Amino acid sequence: MTAGPTSGSTLQLELGLGIPRLALEPEWKAQPRLWGHSLHPMCSYLASFPAALTHAFIARYSRPGDVVLDPFSGRGTAPLQASAEGRIGVGNDLNPFAHLLTAAKVDAPTAAQARTRATALRLAWASAGNRWRDLADAIRESPATGGPEPVPDEVILAFHPRTFAQLLFLRDALDLRVPVDRFLAAATVGILHGKSPSYLSTLMPNTFSMAPRYVRDFAARTEFQSPQRDAFDGLDAKLTRLYRDPLPRAAGLALLGDARDAGTRAAQALRGRGLPDRARLVVTSPPYLRVVKYGYYNWLRTWFLGFDSRAIDASLDDAHRRAPYLDFMKTVLADLRPAMTDDGIVVLVIGDVTTDRGRDVTDGHDLAERVWEAAAAPAGFRLAGIAADDVHAHRKMTRLWGAEAGRATQVDRIVILGAGEAGRRRALAAAHLPVDWTWPPRGLRSV
Ligand SMILES: C[S@@+](CC[C@H](N)C(=O)[O-])C[C@H]1O[C@@H](n2cnc3c(N)ncnc32)[C@H](O)[C@@H]1O
Repeated sequence: MTAGPTSGSTLQLELGLGIPRLALEPEWKAQPRLWGHSLHPMCSYLASFPAALTHAFIARYSRPGDVVLDPFSGRGTAPLQASAEGRIGVGNDLNPFAHLLTAAKVDAPTAAQARTRATALRLAWASAGNRWRDLADAIRESPATGGPEPVPDEVILAFHPRTFAQLLFLRDALDLRVPVDRFLAAATVGILHGKSPSYLSTLMPNTFSMAPRYVRDFAARTEFQSPQRDAFDGLDAKLTRLYRDPLPRAAGLALLGDARDAGTRAAQALRGRGLPDRARLVVTSPPYLRVVKYGYYNWLRTWFLGFDSRAIDASLDDAHRRAPYLDFMKTVLADLRPAMTDDGIVVLVIGDVTTDRGRDVTDGHDLAERVWEAAAAPAGFRLAGIAADDVHAHRKMTRLWGAEAGRATQVDRIVILGAGEAGRRRALAAAHLPVDWTWPPRGLRSV
């Protein structure tokens, strides 16, 4: 690696292949863990990026009123942060669980609407609770009683019998097509399991669902009895935390679908609402190579939401080897290009996978560079540079997954692209503009 000339504070280094390195100051790491809007921590989601990281790019690379798009939005970090900063935040994900979280955040009901609905549910439970407790008892005797699908044993043993009955009731009462119900469902899965008293089951950490067999063995070995937790009290407390910050003034958009045509669908949806239809900024973190099973590691949450965790894992593109992954990214980026303004900028946070289930793999090395060469350049993008973000995700996930250590990434790379030459120049010129880290920002008002 040779050091190139510096321009202002922009240190550009050239790799052997002429790929410019961008030395970005990772100021987002200096911010508090929960920096950003109070809706961000609605529910834990594997491999999500911090809101502060998205702010560094939203602040530098977009203006209020611009469209900011994330075609792999996960729990909705980038579109929510964009909306909270007066941009039009648009998220897309193929995982219905991710879509639900994104939609709950970018099109949230007012606090009054959420509390009114939560109170109505509490009252309905007060009058119908006995029936649900009877059903819960019957299911505990014979899990097949619960409806067309038997309730998995691990779900039953995760909760106190009364909490389980409340969850059966809520699962039946919440209509995920209705925004306020979708929001309450997202808030409920956010408190479904975790180790502190605010969670409804203490069987598992809040970050992800432990493997069902491990849960069964652990529960049997420790004679686990879940403490009684009231779902309605838990939900009320969660709403108080979620509504600490005023809502963004304007709702964003959450799309459910494949990133391969997210650009086209986002433009159509924006046009349909009379909004500017081209994105000025894309901030996204595509799925990593063979790392995260979003369905399997969320099986308790997907049970509550009525989603099929196996079908989720079968549909998502997180199990690729390098060549099909690059083809996939080429299709995604080719579709995004016409959905962007000419001075648009794309920020891709890409995990550099070096181990998979404990074995070294070579597929993940230099993935960011390959994404540029094989996926972004052919789609007409211009490279501003690649920055390294030493996130230590490897250590973090190793700690979480214990025996399954190694399914993790070591260093994230941030690929910064211009949709055209104007975008590339803008990306370089604004890369080191000072960012205001005050939160909440001045001007964030209640709706
Ligand atoms: C690394 S995560 C993104 C996390 C996100 N940045 C956040 O903060 O929550 C990658 C996402 O890609 C989604 N995904 C995988 N394959 C997809 C596809 N073909 N189309 C759209 N989304 C996909 C997964 O569901 C997952 O949410």
